[in-house]
Amino acid sequence: MSRIHEALKRAEQERAASQGGHVESLHPMDVPAVEAAGMPPVIERAPLSTAASAAAAGPAFSNAFTFDTLLARCAQSEWNPDPKSMLFFNDDERKYGAEEFRTLRSRLYQMREKMPLKKVLITSALPKEGKTFVAANLAQVMVRQHGRRALLIDADLRGARLHQALGTSSTPGLSEYLLGESDEFSVMQRGPMENLFFIPSGRTVSNPAELVANGRLKFLLTRVEPLFDWIIIDSPPTVPVSDSSLLANFCDGVLIVVRSNTTPFGMARKARLEFQDKHLIGVVLNGIEADSSPYSRYYYGVNGNNKEMQETVQG
Ligand SMILES: Nc1ncnc2c1ncn2[C@@H]1O[C@H](COP(=O)(O)OP(=O)(O)OP(=O)(O)O)[C@@H](O)[C@H]1O
Ligand SMILES: [Mg+2]
Repeated sequence: MSRIHEALKRAEQERAASQGGHVESLHPMDVPAVEAAGMPPVIERAPLSTAASAAAAGPAFSNAFTFDTLLARCAQSEWNPDPKSMLFFNDDERKYGAEEFRTLRSRLYQMREKMPLKKVLITSALPKEGKTFVAANLAQVMVRQHGRRALLIDADLRGARLHQALGTSSTPGLSEYLLGESDEFSVMQRGPMENLFFIPSGRTVSNPAELVANGRLKFLLTRVEPLFDWIIIDSPPTVPVSDSSLLANFCDGVLIVVRSNTTPFGMARKARLEFQDKHLIGVVLNGIEADSSPYSRYYYGVNGNNKEMQETVQG
C-alpha cells in the first residue's frame, strides 16, 4: 500500500472516529479450536422495540420500531437466486459447501459466547476471492435455524454483486440511505427465505469511502440491530481501497476470505495486519479442491484453527 493511500486511510478513519465511529482496541484472538458440534445455543433476542432499546440508543432513536413494523413496511421482493452459488435457497441441504457453512455458523456462535458478536464484516485482500459468496451463504445458513433473523448488507459500493447473486434489484439501497434520500424501510428487501433481509448497494456513487464514513451507517446499524440475530456485511477488497477498514469500525468482528491457490501470501498477510486491531475473528479458506476436504470443495479455517491457514496468514 502506498504512503499516500495509507495517509488517506488514516485521515478517513480519524474522521469516522470523530463522527461517532468507534475504533476499538485489539481483541484477543484466543478462541480455542473447538470442533463444531450440534446446534448453537439460542441467543437472547434483544427487545424488539420501545422503551428499553430507545432509551439505550439515546434521544435520536426515540422512534425505534418493531419487527412487526419492519414486516409491514418492508416490501417483499421477487428474488431469483443463482442456483450455482447460493446454497440454501432450495431444500437440497447436501450441496457442496453447505456443511462447511454450518460449521462456520457453529464457530461463530461459539465465539459469541465469549464476545459480543452480531455485526460481521466479510472482506478479503483482493477482488474475486469469494467475499460475496461467503457473505450471502453465511446469511442464508443463519436463517435456516428456526426463528433466527439475518440482515445482509451490500456495502461494496464499488463493485456490488450481492443483488446479482440473489437475483434482485440493486436500488434503492445503501447509497440512497447514506445520501439521506431513503429510509431503512425503503432500502430493505425481504425475499423468499423467511427472516432473511437484504439491503443492496444502491446506485453507483463517486465517493464511496466518504459515504461509508459519514455517520449514517452507524446510525442505521444501531437502529436495526435489535431486530436481528446477525448482520452480515459484504465489502470491497482491503488492499486496493479503504472502505472495508472503515466499515470494520462499525462491526463486532471481521472475517477475511482467502481463496485457495489464488491469494498471494503477502496479500493475505497484509489484510490480516490491516484488521489485527479491529476484532479480526477468523479466516475463511475458500475454494479448495474437492479431494482436499472429506466433505466438499469448500473448507473454512476459522480464527486460524486450521494450521495451514494460520501459517499462511500470520506468515
Ligand atoms: N467456493 C466457491 N465455489 C464456487 N464458486 C465460487 C466460490 N467462491 C466464489 N465463487 C464464485 O467466484 C466468483 C467471485 O466470487 P465473489 O463475487 O464472491 O468474490 P468477491 O471477493 O466478492 O469479488 P469482488 O472483490 O469483485 O467483490 C463468483 O462468480 C462466485 O460465485
Ligand atoms: Mg463481492
